[in-house]
Amino acid sequence: MEKIVLPEIENFHILDVFVENGGFTAAKKAFSQSTDDIIDQVKKSGLRGRGGAAFSAGLKWSFMPKTTDKPKYLCINGDESEPGSFKDRQIFEYNPHQLIEGILITCYAIGAKTAYIYIRGEYHKWIKLMQKALDDAYAAGYVGEAMKEKFGTEFFCNIYIHKGAGAYICGEESSLMNSVEGKRGYPRVKPPFPAQNGLWGCPTTINNVETITNIPPIINKGWEWFSKIGEPKHPGTILFGVSGHVNKPGVYELPSGTLLTDIIYNYAGGVPGNKRILCVIPGGSSMPPLRGDQLEGVKMDAESLRAAGSAIGTGGIMVMDEDTDLVKVLARLSHFYHHESCGQCTPCREGTGWLEKILKRILAGNGSVSDVDLLITVANQIEGNTICALGEAAAWPVRFMVTRFRDYFEARVSKEVNLQVANKVHSMRETARPLAEVKN
Ligand SMILES: Cc1cc2nc3c(=O)[nH]c(=O)nc-3n(C[C@H](O)[C@H](O)[C@H](O)COP(=O)(O)O)c2cc1C
Ligand code: SF4
Repeated sequence: MEKIVLPEIENFHILDVFVENGGFTAAKKAFSQSTDDIIDQVKKSGLRGRGGAAFSAGLKWSFMPKTTDKPKYLCINGDESEPGSFKDRQIFEYNPHQLIEGILITCYAIGAKTAYIYIRGEYHKWIKLMQKALDDAYAAGYVGEAMKEKFGTEFFCNIYIHKGAGAYICGEESSLMNSVEGKRGYPRVKPPFPAQNGLWGCPTTINNVETITNIPPIINKGWEWFSKIGEPKHPGTILFGVSGHVNKPGVYELPSGTLLTDIIYNYAGGVPGNKRILCVIPGGSSMPPLRGDQLEGVKMDAESLRAAGSAIGTGGIMVMDEDTDLVKVLARLSHFYHHESCGQCTPCREGTGWLEKILKRILAGNGSVSDVDLLITVANQIEGNTICALGEAAAWPVRFMVTRFRDYFEARVSKEVNLQVANKVHSMRETARPLAEVKN
């Protein structure tokens, strides 16, 4: 199978090797076409975002205003802080120039002169590698004003790397923009959407690293070619990051629609000790978990996973064998989302804390039967009631894991607890006035 995002070419990360293998020819081709043509090709290719929501990349670009006197911006999202997601860093390490070329084409298509690559703060190694690649591309005239001469075009753009400081919430697009502006990483209320009101109030497009790395091959080989790879409604290859209880954890680039069981057993080498699979989270830790007996026939693309009761997310496949303590897993995840909540919305700020507290109570053996439903109630109260989707990210794993493994959770909370009423509520306390008098 042909690899689009991580081609198997030795030293492809080195600029000369990239150029020898057709690097920057897609950009040259793109600059000779109209911007509408480029957007149209990306739309027709069917490319969908690889950052979580699987939204059409071409459609998103088309939201950028054509006539505006404001500068336009492109943000590349390499925050990659979701537990179970570790695929964008492969691009920083093994194919940085294709990402740079994709950025040049995207900036041209949307009319941006400036792009920021936002990289998670803990990715020290990958920030350095990406900076080195960018410096080399600048020195060779592929980026910045020098590209006018290199490509024989009037268009040019600049690219900057922006380091995050270790906050998961800065992967959320509006929070990322606040962070680039030097503000606290708080998500913004939408609408207005970034295409209208993004960085510094100007039109902005935000795309994931993997999404944009797909652009040069689409321009070079044509949208028809891309649209025929994998599942028609979510075409192309996807970088699947497989972790947990598998013999060969790693990142596998495979056509969309590859069977989940194929990825786990054939590519990732199966489960150590041939143990049974208890649970799989197929798209990074915020996506709904599937039971081991729900995996047969599940294809890894947005539509198939939705039909199976989960979501593609970032394609991070987390495998848990039969000996896994699911309460411990969920308590750990809930700790993460509680810790990463920015605190702006009450349901998320308070609800994530309660989820963690209840799960830790169950883990310590002090859970009561009512805790199982309480977890679902709290999760339901977060979902749909927050500014950004971190609320859902925290609620989904809890709601779906508890619902799908209800027996498991009930077995862990065998005690029926009757809480002592320490104080009667205020309205029932005796007062100087007899109750009969109050009623009248
Ligand atoms: C809490 C939270 C964290 C996110 N983290 C990331 C991230 O690390 N990388 C990413 O590409 N998208 C992340 N997203 C999704 C972005 O908001 C945005 O949808 C995405 O970058 C768009 O790119 P795409 O259309 O190419 O997928 C996150 C969303 C939320 C709610
Ligand atoms: S949902 Fe959570 S993370 Fe998102 S804005 Fe509200 S409090 Fe912040």
